[in-house]
Amino acid sequence: MNNFVFQNPTEVVFGQGGVKEQLPDLLDHYGDTVLLAYGGGSIKRNGVYDEVMGILKDKGKTVVEFSGIMPNPTYEKVQEGAKLARDNHVDLILAVGGGSVSDCCKAVSAQARLDEDLWTFEHEKHGMPTDFIPLGTIVTVFGTGSEMNSGAVITHEEKKIKGPVYGAQADFAFLDPDYTMSVPMKQVISGAFDTLSHAMETYFGKPDQNNLSDDMNEAVQRSVIQNIRTLLTDPKNYNARSELAWASAMAENGLLKIGKVTDFQCHMIEHQLGAYTNCNHGAGLAVIHPVLYRHLVNDNTKKFANWAVEVWGIEPKEDELQTAFAGIDALADFIREIGMPSTLEELGIPEDTDLKAIADSTTLTAGCARKLSADEIFEILQECR
Ligand code: NZQ
Ligand code: ZN
Repeated sequence: MNNFVFQNPTEVVFGQGGVKEQLPDLLDHYGDTVLLAYGGGSIKRNGVYDEVMGILKDKGKTVVEFSGIMPNPTYEKVQEGAKLARDNHVDLILAVGGGSVSDCCKAVSAQARLDEDLWTFEHEKHGMPTDFIPLGTIVTVFGTGSEMNSGAVITHEEKKIKGPVYGAQADFAFLDPDYTMSVPMKQVISGAFDTLSHAMETYFGKPDQNNLSDDMNEAVQRSVIQNIRTLLTDPKNYNARSELAWASAMAENGLLKIGKVTDFQCHMIEHQLGAYTNCNHGAGLAVIHPVLYRHLVNDNTKKFANWAVEVWGIEPKEDELQTAFAGIDALADFIREIGMPSTLEELGIPEDTDLKAIADSTTLTAGCARKLSADEIFEILQECR
């Protein structure tokens, strides 16, 4: 196993009723002014807004609302939130929503305390922000795992880049699976597939030898697959929703990455696809994964074969490569089974989208088997059509 340092400072309150029971006490640790951040309005329709607002008012907090955070949050939205936070001397940011709200708020918390432009500071001067407005999250849709890390994914529309921005890691995160009951099933599955993707992108990273992180990772993948299937026949199943909620956090809270170098090449491609088309994150990943893995299977056959057996229950075949391919076929079949798109067309990507520009602007990672070139990413994207 590689050397590692592990720390996760987020206090997680998991389960039904957690906000009502524990948010009031947690609020005592912060000053009077709270930036209540949310998305396009789902929290007003499902009662979460009223519940949270009631608690904030009972605690005598001054609430500044920051609404309309869109899926695939933009850098412009980050600047809007930072100005609000600064102008109102906000003491705590409370992000109520999914990965998009959480990510936008992480960046807001850093930008509000930084005198220069956050994107330039991080991407051009290679600085890391160290001063943040404290952040807490209430997760209403699961999948990204954003609630237990400090990374945000922000779309810089002018630069046509959907890229990482480092901001605050939440001091606390409420994970109440009940809040997901109102999420459209398509989004529930898209989020769960994002979790599966995070686990795969970690599993295939180096080192390849047997290790505890990968054993845990296989269990997370099996659990996600099984619980998506449960929800397809029993959509309101609380247990399946709670398993998916915790799997989402587990895949991105650092535990599965212990001692590993991660891959995330699929994510890098999807993020640029998102920068050009604003597509749904989990659905974009579903289209790219099988095609990408068929390009890489020859370079890491043993690991792909192991994954096929341990995660997808494939009977080992005489030829390791056949076993490995059977695993990728099982993934592709699963994507169809759960109603996710398998092609760019099914994802709704216009035919005239500039796939070459997407490939050329994709960040190249060390790769799970081999480092790809921009040309091969272009090929992969063309095969996704
Ligand atoms: O905006 P509202 O009205 O709230 O509606 C949202 C949104 O339309 C809706 N929703 C959320 N909770 C709901 C609900 N609808 C009904 N009932 C509820 N309880 O769901 C839609 C999608 O929300 P969004 O936050 O965009 O989804 P998700 O959590 O999948 O986040 C996606 C973003 O996270 C980034 C993605 O790239 C994308 O920008 N990621 C962040 C990561 C991180 N920080 O660690 C890692 C990921 O790989 C990912 O890149
Ligand atoms: Zn993701």
